[in-house]
Amino acid sequence: MKYVVTGGAGFVGSHLVKLLLNNGHSVTVIDNLHSGKKENLKSVFKQIKFEFGDIRNYEFLEKIMKNIDGVFHQAALTVVQDSFDNPEEYHDVNVNGTENIFKLAQKNNFKVVYASSSSVYGHKNKIPIEENVSRNPINPYGQTKLDDEFLVEKYSKKGVKIIGLRYFNIFGEGQTLQYAGVITKFLDRIKQNKSPIIFGDGSQIRDFIYVEDIVMANLLAMKSNINNLLVNIGTGKSITILELAKMFLEISKIKSEPIFENPLEGDIEKSQADIKLATESFNWKPKKMLNEWLTEIIKK
Ligand SMILES: NC(=O)c1ccc[n+]([C@@H]2O[C@H](COP(=O)([O-])OP(=O)(O)OC[C@H]3O[C@@H](n4cnc5c(N)ncnc54)[C@H](O)[C@@H]3O)[C@@H](O)[C@H]2O)c1
Repeated sequence: MKYVVTGGAGFVGSHLVKLLLNNGHSVTVIDNLHSGKKENLKSVFKQIKFEFGDIRNYEFLEKIMKNIDGVFHQAALTVVQDSFDNPEEYHDVNVNGTENIFKLAQKNNFKVVYASSSSVYGHKNKIPIEENVSRNPINPYGQTKLDDEFLVEKYSKKGVKIIGLRYFNIFGEGQTLQYAGVITKFLDRIKQNKSPIIFGDGSQIRDFIYVEDIVMANLLAMKSNINNLLVNIGTGKSITILELAKMFLEISKIKSEPIFENPLEGDIEKSQADIKLATESFNWKPKKMLNEWLTEIIKK
């Protein structure tokens, strides 16, 4: 099949490109290298087509997104804290850019599997979170992902095939430190023999999902007969940030305590997926758990 991956030079996108190539598909990457790097694709660069450009540019996308079987849309601005300072730019890239792809899917009749986020839910008291609960994002980044879901509802009614995968917190090789989540930041500290820094009291609950499991969910969603769905992609399990910090210290055998700093604005309290819908829809299950991966990585 002929696929386009937007944001293919990023963390998730580059893993996805490699999975698609390994499955014999032809891949075009669209990326403006805002946070992504060509280096992430170094091992496969000769096997792909790389198109440098911006998803906000409809004419640019129109030239590339024709005679294709599907688009895996990963490109976005992704940093929650930064979205408070630049809400308009976040809206422009994450919502207007996404709508360009939905419009072209309608025009050229291809399927889209795209990255939504657990941030659409906001604070939820009841975990695990099922897909049909109300969505109340608490930061501008999450709002852009919710606005995308409103677009999904609009374009699905017009017969456009769109599956939105609500990723929970992703970990894995190649996450950029600057933009990374807590795992990469803790790992960076541990590698320097320093204690992890926790923002807040560490009671925040998270569901961490391995990047290879995320990209497999993308492929299965694209291949499935299901055309329209918004679905959680997590492990269904959770850990507090304090437990996570202690896990890092234990595995690395560093005898120290975590450091606590002020809570971050827009940080969600509890996040854990209910994954029944994903399992039933795509016959998908996460394979690698966090403690297993951490043990491998820290011992390296
Ligand atoms: N990493 C996570 O934990 C997580 C969780 C939930 C959802 N997501 C979503 O998954 C997707 C991938 O995230 P990631 O962690 O790989 O982030 P990333 O920053 O590594 O990747 C995003 C990619 O999009 C590209 N990009 C940004 N703006 C662009 C534009 N205007 N035009 C073209 N390309 C552009 C970047 O250069 C980068 O390569 C994003 O949509 C993100 O919102 C990620």
